[in-house]
Amino acid sequence: MNPVRIFDTTLRDGEQAPGISLDVGEKLEIAEQLSRLGVDIIEAGFPVASQGDYEGVRAIAETVGTTTVDGSDAPPVIAALARCHPDDVERAAKALAPAERSRLHVFVSTSEIHRRVMLRASEDDVVRQAVAAVKQAREHTDDVEFSPQDATRTDEDFLLRILDAVVDAGATTVNIPDTVGYALPHDFGELIGGIVRRVGDGVVVSVHCHNDLGLAVANSLEAVRNGARQVEVAVNGLGERAGNCSMEEVVMALATRSDLLHAPTAIRTREIARSSRLVSALTGYPIQFNKAVVGKNAFAHESGIHQHGVIQDRLTYEIMRAEDVGVAGAQIVLGKHSGRHAFANQVTAMGFTLDKEAIGRAFLRFKELADRKVEVTDADLEAIVTDQSWGSREEAFTLVSLEVAGGTGREPTATVRVRADGEDAPRERTATGDGMVDAVCRALREATGVDAVLTDFHVAAVTAGIDALGDVTVKVDVGGRRYTGRGVSTDVVEASARAFLAALNRSARLTPREDRP
Ligand code: KIV
Ligand code: ZN
Repeated sequence: MNPVRIFDTTLRDGEQAPGISLDVGEKLEIAEQLSRLGVDIIEAGFPVASQGDYEGVRAIAETVGTTTVDGSDAPPVIAALARCHPDDVERAAKALAPAERSRLHVFVSTSEIHRRVMLRASEDDVVRQAVAAVKQAREHTDDVEFSPQDATRTDEDFLLRILDAVVDAGATTVNIPDTVGYALPHDFGELIGGIVRRVGDGVVVSVHCHNDLGLAVANSLEAVRNGARQVEVAVNGLGERAGNCSMEEVVMALATRSDLLHAPTAIRTREIARSSRLVSALTGYPIQFNKAVVGKNAFAHESGIHQHGVIQDRLTYEIMRAEDVGVAGAQIVLGKHSGRHAFANQVTAMGFTLDKEAIGRAFLRFKELADRKVEVTDADLEAIVTDQSWGSREEAFTLVSLEVAGGTGREPTATVRVRADGEDAPRERTATGDGMVDAVCRALREATGVDAVLTDFHVAAVTAGIDALGDVTVKVDVGGRRYTGRGVSTDVVEASARAFLAALNRSARLTPREDRP
């Protein structure tokens, strides 16, 4: 058996996907879940890229990077990305300082096209920069990863030359990125096999595959078959363009076909579904219904023949057990007579850590929901707890009430009452619109004074049935920046209002109170 390390880059490469912008609190929430999931390394960000990235990495290093999850010997390694520039490396090292175990990940482009167009640097220049950065990084930590960007379009002799040089300089992991998703499995496998033999046992060979041709998982598996001992992944396959190698797919392929691959990971697979839902909710990237492992239909059977087989024995048409990836059947856990204590116990048993105030707020939501919905399932509870519009933070704006009127032949009208942080009396505004949701958004825009344009709207049902919770994700544009918001309710218009307000609150968090409308 040759264990494979899982290096998760949801918070770095994943966060580079168009339209995603997570605040520090949300990054922490995802990092905590990644730690519960059991990833070996969390790439928390690219500290020199922005103040937000720096703060995100620092906060994760301080908390997740110093806390052991039940059953593990040590906190995950926290990694940060840096170009091969002295200032980048210093900034990344400073952000990582509080972590118990940290990794500096330095990269430089090596392909002819990247060197000519982007760097205007010769092969010799690039080798010099890489060696200097690795040596500088080694002054901060003995765990240094080097990536030759666009490796799969780099001349192979030059690729081997630069890898030899960085290993001599002290790199402990060499990561081979298929930056533009160009590789084919058999070719990539051969390349990785050659590198593994060249660098020897003392250095971990890693792969980082993009999915432009839909081959990221296949390429990563072929690399593992040829000796790679680290795979870089993102939850739900998020990442630049078509994304990165999907965590859930590669992990479950390694687990399900362990008979051929013999490469176990340390992932607690029962945390997969929750990790996927959390990342989808916080990034606003929906999960495609037929997505392998975590899609809504991944364990659903429609055809009569299939149903007939599955009813007698699930193995007739299933190669994984839904429970093993955390997709439990709808469980009835609580009802309208359940008390705060039972509610708090259940939420804790599901792995959430909420302070007293957040439990109080979530309990109020639960009570309200239990009045409207007969069966409150684990999935409903999870939606309530992760609903941003009821978070534990002091928000700039809180929804006090919402009334809507409309129908055929009547102009949709919404009246909202919103309390602004620091004001006693709620602000009340009425607006009309093209539909109920439009009217609500207009009224909220007027009440908050935030000039936000709704650019994306997505609604999904948390569970089946007429009384299912509606889970709405929106994206808004405020002054050229995009913010995501999410809200849940049995009433889709109310869920939309909550999602819109959550997005406005995210924009307000970046605006000092005195400058808010
Ligand atoms: O795709 C890529 O080349 C990267 C590197 C920074 C590792 O993300
Ligand atoms: Zn990448």
